[in-house]
Amino acid sequence: RIFTDPREASKSVAHEIAELIKLKQREGKSCVLGLATGSSPKTVYAELIRLHREEGLSFKNVVSFNLDEYYPMEPDAIQSYWRFMKEQLFDHVDIPKENYFIPLGDIPQSQIEDFCKSYEAKIDSLGGLDFQLLGIGGNGHIGFNEPGSLINSKTRLMMLDHSTRAAAVMDFGGELIKVPKKAITMGVSKILQAKRVVLLAWGERKAGMIADAVEGSVSEHNPSSYLQSHGNVLFVVDTAAASEL
Ligand code: GLP
Repeated sequence: RIFTDPREASKSVAHEIAELIKLKQREGKSCVLGLATGSSPKTVYAELIRLHREEGLSFKNVVSFNLDEYYPMEPDAIQSYWRFMKEQLFDHVDIPKENYFIPLGDIPQSQIEDFCKSYEAKIDSLGGLDFQLLGIGGNGHIGFNEPGSLINSKTRLMMLDHSTRAAAVMDFGGELIKVPKKAITMGVSKILQAKRVVLLAWGERKAGMIADAVEGSVSEHNPSSYLQSHGNVLFVVDTAAASEL
């Protein structure tokens, strides 16, 4: 779906999420959301906060799992995805503190494998993700599933591509050496198990990858192309990001 204005696009995505939350509330069930960081979803979160404040949308039945976190990363560091989510959404809505999960960037490396298994098990125990929100990296990554990630990849520790680290350098004071070399990411297979997937992309710099994801061949070179095999996926893009389609 192509929008001229990313804000309008974000509103439509936020409204879809709000309707899902309300539907689950009527059914007396939890709404299990997969959430993303990066600049693209910020406007979606802003609209969700507005719906909470002005229209009484409650997040009490929401359980959320974030896609990824740098490793190593202290949760209160300025660049942490934990902090991002609190600032962009969680601190402004009524989601219970025990209901949101973000991969931990401060656990010892020896515990990561067990942590990743339990992260997936927790999602499964709730019946899987009802909705997964995604951005897309300049190299086609989803979450931090870098090119080379397999379609059946699980939640794991990932080495970040040079291009991914270079894209994040301004968040780390312009010093590449300070950008973590690794991240914990939800695997491609867990993303593809979500009942609904919505990917956001704004701006011309995403146009090549969007065209490749939608119209190119399904390949590990562009992990977002795996979404072609999902039965209920929507790409929400602005005119610039759609310019190579
Ligand atoms: C990071 C995140 C991704 C995100 C990507 C794009 O790499 N791990 O989940 O999709 O950035 O970010 P942006 O939305 O700022 O373009």
